[in-house]
Amino acid sequence: MVDHFHYRHQELYAEQVPVAAIADQAATPVYIYSAATFREHYRRLQQAFAECAPLICYSVKSCGNVHILRMLAELGSGFDVVSGGELYRVLQAGGPAGRVVYAGVGKTQSEILQAMEAGIACFNIESEAELEAVGALAAGRKQTVRAALRVNPDVDPRTHRHTSTGQKETKFGVDIERARQVFARYGRQPHLSLTGIHLHIGSPINSTEPYVQAVKKVLDLIAELRREGIAIETLNIGGGFGADYTTGQAPAADLYAEALIPLLRGQDLELILEPGRSISANAGIFVTRLLYLKQGGEKTFAIVDGAMNDLIRPVLYDAFHFLWPTAVSPDHVITNRCREPDLPGLRPYDVVGPICETGDCLAKDRLLPPLKPGDLLAVFTAGAYGFVMSSQYNSRPRAAEVLVDSDRFEIIRRRETYGDLIAHEIA
Ligand SMILES: Cc1ncc(COP(=O)(O)O)c(C=O)c1O
Repeated sequence: MVDHFHYRHQELYAEQVPVAAIADQAATPVYIYSAATFREHYRRLQQAFAECAPLICYSVKSCGNVHILRMLAELGSGFDVVSGGELYRVLQAGGPAGRVVYAGVGKTQSEILQAMEAGIACFNIESEAELEAVGALAAGRKQTVRAALRVNPDVDPRTHRHTSTGQKETKFGVDIERARQVFARYGRQPHLSLTGIHLHIGSPINSTEPYVQAVKKVLDLIAELRREGIAIETLNIGGGFGADYTTGQAPAADLYAEALIPLLRGQDLELILEPGRSISANAGIFVTRLLYLKQGGEKTFAIVDGAMNDLIRPVLYDAFHFLWPTAVSPDHVITNRCREPDLPGLRPYDVVGPICETGDCLAKDRLLPPLKPGDLLAVFTAGAYGFVMSSQYNSRPRAAEVLVDSDRFEIIRRRETYGDLIAHEIA
């Protein structure tokens, strides 16, 4: 578990700052990020794959606050975007367009033009129709753009069906057979330099094997294409590396690298990675305050001020997020974030939010230290697909975001107000 959220004197700290002090100032619910954790995950990946000197394109969709993008840009990161809005964020954060790759099945004409004007590094193309559209727009601008074809290697990533993307019949990319035809037809266009292969097989993938299978399959394809005189220069293996939702759940960056580097050695390919979750997930917690306890027939409901509009992963993906009070007795200081902690005096709770849906549950049948109203609860590993997927459902203003760096913290997105709820509806 690589992060900088630890219990010290029975109290949870984000780096050097007590989480309770942040909640007092920023109120709850609130997302709290650790700058050191972002940096550490980025560097670990960079070091693990150093032999290939990859272009690391952090996946903006996982956690895209401009302050976080700026911090990653300062480390030298590139960015993986999937919309004009994400590209706008990157540019506002000072990210270099020349290190941006752009994926997504439904890029609009204006988004494509925006990306061409910015001068992004590569379009990750998902269909023949998109190739036609990008090629025509590039020709119209007399500009040559670089593109990679997204290929589905048809491997099973063994992850949730909503986030499994690399099998044969998905809306993403094209299968290997069709990829051959696409390169034959579009591989030699004057304004479209189709010189890359892009993969993204799903997320999270907590083993190296699906990547190994996928890379082997596309290396065969690349060899074949090269024999036919089509120059393939880049291989983008996408994102999806796992993160520790429970201690020790995901392989470390080195393990992915150890499995993949031997396959890539000597291939004369520029390697691109698109990690999102493996950098951002452990870098954020979501902190919510307990409002009421309610005794059901057999269960105790802990009703908190954070809800599924703030963090939708538990209801959307049945995702497990470790959750624990920020202030605990000596018996309940926890280091191992697991599904069933073996500590004395724990009690079962359902931790639920105020939204009018039964599914609005952050943690179900969870063993926790005895709780009381006013307690702060930290939901761990909430940095990825947390705030970015939040909504105003039930007219709940979105939570604030806070970035901690050593002994300082800053509100990097203010809590929305009631005025924000109707701002786009009034003339
Ligand atoms: C094309 C592409 N690249 C990268 C990612 C990032 O995935 P992860 O956050 O699991 O690393 C995604 C996620 O959906 C994606 O669709």
